[in-house]
Amino acid sequence: MKAVTWQGKRDVRVQDVADPRIEEPTDAIVEVTSTAICGSDLHLYEVLGPFMTPGDVLGHEAMGIVRQTGNAVPDLIPGDRVVVPFNIACGQCYYCSQQLYTQCERTRAPGQDKGASLFGYTKLYGQVPGGQAELLRVPQAHFGPVKVPETGPDERFLFLSDVLPTAWQAVEYADVPEGGSCVVLGLGPIGQLAARIARHRGAGTVLGVDLVDERLAMAQRHGIDTLDLRTVKDVGVAVRDRTDGRGADSVIDAVGMEAHGAPVSTVVQQLATLLPDRLAEKAFTTAGIDRMSALYTAIDAVRRGGTVSLSGVYGGMADPMPMMTLFDKQIQLRMGQANVRAWTDDILPLLTGDDDPLGVDDLVTHHVPLDEASDAYGMFQAKRDGAIKVVLQP
Ligand SMILES: NC(=O)c1ccc[n+]([C@@H]2O[C@H](COP(=O)([O-])OP(=O)(O)OC[C@H]3O[C@@H](n4cnc5c(N)ncnc54)[C@H](O)[C@@H]3O)[C@@H](O)[C@H]2O)c1
Ligand SMILES: [Zn+2]
Ligand SMILES: [Zn+2]
Repeated sequence: MKAVTWQGKRDVRVQDVADPRIEEPTDAIVEVTSTAICGSDLHLYEVLGPFMTPGDVLGHEAMGIVRQTGNAVPDLIPGDRVVVPFNIACGQCYYCSQQLYTQCERTRAPGQDKGASLFGYTKLYGQVPGGQAELLRVPQAHFGPVKVPETGPDERFLFLSDVLPTAWQAVEYADVPEGGSCVVLGLGPIGQLAARIARHRGAGTVLGVDLVDERLAMAQRHGIDTLDLRTVKDVGVAVRDRTDGRGADSVIDAVGMEAHGAPVSTVVQQLATLLPDRLAEKAFTTAGIDRMSALYTAIDAVRRGGTVSLSGVYGGMADPMPMMTLFDKQIQLRMGQANVRAWTDDILPLLTGDDDPLGVDDLVTHHVPLDEASDAYGMFQAKRDGAIKVVLQP
């Protein structure tokens, strides 16, 4: 079969690889009909190379038709249309029974001391072949796959694999008071949907921040107020101006460590000067501080006693954190990968009607044949041609 493989930094190629087959009684084989490229794939494309092996099959946002099942997958039969959650969970262990599916004890990669295995995501997370391929082997298929209606375009349901539950959890963790204010940093797919979900779930003011025209425009056409980082020099000041001088009740960071284009803000410099010299120097000389700029902005823009919800992925142990400010402002910080199956039952009913309350019909900007994945990755990373969400079609 054809699959999108990682070969090196910024080098992704479509290759012929062996067809997957049933290896465990709890496996299923899904013929992929749509599979999206995610902001998280850009971390593999760029900074997480050391954890990848040339030939790894990428992709963790896939849906399709069940073709085969092992004999311990009672709820699926060939022909079922399913979406596959990006994290692989057993549904029964200590963590799964608390709906912390990203921490599943049964699928963790041995010896890595990390959470549950993920499709198409480094050896830290099990090196499981991903879904940007014609066929996908789905482990733990007695639990993971979400059956969806047979009719309706793939994009209606595809984002149950990651983007929708991630945005939903970001809003849940943000704990926005009824009628309260919520700032969303980053208007990629996660930020777009988090902003819409926050409003759908009762936030009074939702303010999105980005620096790319078409991303700001997409948020605006869904009724979200925006700040353009290219012209607003200090997001914290702008947010306080709109919130009686206090800051937002909740801030969602949907940027993560690929933060770019953002100059090291004055607040970062101020925070770094609070550190002892040796640490401040380290802070400025490691790439860390620049990559953390969205997180610093979040901590600055939230009000005292407010909540910061991180869905952007951060890596690295050496990144300095403004602990003094976090503590002084009594900020609540929640984060982590989305526990996909914890939210899908809440979200699915919002996807099946004609009214499309979350506007999922307006997210995909490009449909590309799987064969052209290499160029599609380049386009998505550079945000060329208005790319916001790219769906590959095998
Ligand atoms: N927690 C999870 O389970 C989970 C799941 C999926 C994605 N993610 C992470 O969420 C983040 C967003 O994903 P995405 O697919 O929307 O990615 P994306 O790269 O498309 O979006 C990021 C957006 O942030 C903007 N941006 C960059 N620097 C900024 C700054 N300093 N301030 C404000 N905006 C800035 C970019 O212009 C872009 O629009 C990524 O880090 C991704 O890895 C987490
Ligand atoms: Zn994803
Ligand atoms: Zn489990």
